[in-house]
Amino acid sequence: MFKSKILGLGKYVPENVVTNDDLSKMMDTSDEWIQERTGIQERRHIKKGDGNSTAIMGLKAAKQAIERANINKDDIELIVFATLSPDYYFPGCGVQIQEGLGIKTCPALDVRNQCSGFVYGISVADQYIKTGMYKNVLVIGSENHSGGLDMTTRGRHVSVIFGDGAGAAVLSRSDDDSSGILSTHLHSQGEYIDELSLRGPSTEKWVPEIIAEDPQEDIPYYPKMNGQLVFKNAVVRFSEVIHEGLAHNQLKKEDIDMFIPHQANLRISQFIQSKLGLSDDKVYNNIQKYGNTTAASIPIALTEAWEKGKIKKGDLVVLAAFGSGFTWGSTIIRW
Ligand SMILES: CC(C)(COP(=O)(O)OP(=O)(O)OC[C@H]1O[C@@H](n2cnc3c(N)ncnc32)[C@H](O)[C@@H]1OP(=O)(O)O)[C@@H](O)C(=O)NCCC(=O)NCCS
Repeated sequence: MFKSKILGLGKYVPENVVTNDDLSKMMDTSDEWIQERTGIQERRHIKKGDGNSTAIMGLKAAKQAIERANINKDDIELIVFATLSPDYYFPGCGVQIQEGLGIKTCPALDVRNQCSGFVYGISVADQYIKTGMYKNVLVIGSENHSGGLDMTTRGRHVSVIFGDGAGAAVLSRSDDDSSGILSTHLHSQGEYIDELSLRGPSTEKWVPEIIAEDPQEDIPYYPKMNGQLVFKNAVVRFSEVIHEGLAHNQLKKEDIDMFIPHQANLRISQFIQSKLGLSDDKVYNNIQKYGNTTAASIPIALTEAWEKGKIKKGDLVVLAAFGSGFTWGSTIIRW
């Protein structure tokens, strides 16, 4: 059995900064409400005409990760792309990355696990590398939320939270047995499918039907979220899946050097931090600047933490995510 490690990291966020005050010009909200409930100060939104899309942002992050991994793009043997906001209904964004990077017929797989998408993607990549099937796998998380949010007061409890951006990692076979991905742990609970979802247009209700109905409330093409239920489940599942990962490796919470939580809400991250008893220097949060970028949030935060020198060789790094589905997962890494 081989071991995989993260060889290169990259990120990209659009230049356009949208502050809480900017949002309060579009809907009945305030900087105070948003900061108090979520910790978010600003987020990035794609601006019409800036050339960005989910796949294009993903491609930019991927190029940086490949360059930093110091490998050739043609060494990538599999692309795993996680998003809930693809450019096309089908095919998925993975093939756009294959084409954009110009890698000849490399397989491309799309992952549909929302906020847990990157952790699911890492798990897929890790299994392929462990078995020896592939040596280098590119994992991307990217989201264009701003293109699909209800930017009116009706949608404010959802729309203020989400932002656009992309992150990427190159996972490669590790030559050094003492470092790399120790384990990944994944879960789902479909009974909560409707508590955080975007129902349509879909084969259940296609575009003509939605247009004919012309709904004014509970609009199927905008995301729907039961915020309090999501919050309550998130704090429990985050904690469970981190402890599951630590126990699997005979590790304790005191062994964690850096915890990178999915950037769902600063209050959720702080709650988990206090349950784990971690000091501020052992947790990396950047939701204040980017909002919740769903599948992109962990790779953006991981890349930023690494760029700032907060992750060193030998560190125990824990990634954990929770989101729509519900789905959740963790990754335990010896850096
Ligand atoms: C979304 C969230 C911030 C809302 O906070 P909350 O304390 O649960 O707030 P509620 O939904 O109960 O709403 C409280 C009040 O604020 C109002 N409100 C909602 N959004 C608002 C906004 N953006 N600005 C101002 N007021 C807002 C509500 O209308 C409600 O008003 P009312 O009391 O007059 O009815 C919180 O539930 C949360 O963070 N949940 C987790 C969400 C998450 O992490 N999602 C991503 C999952 S990966």
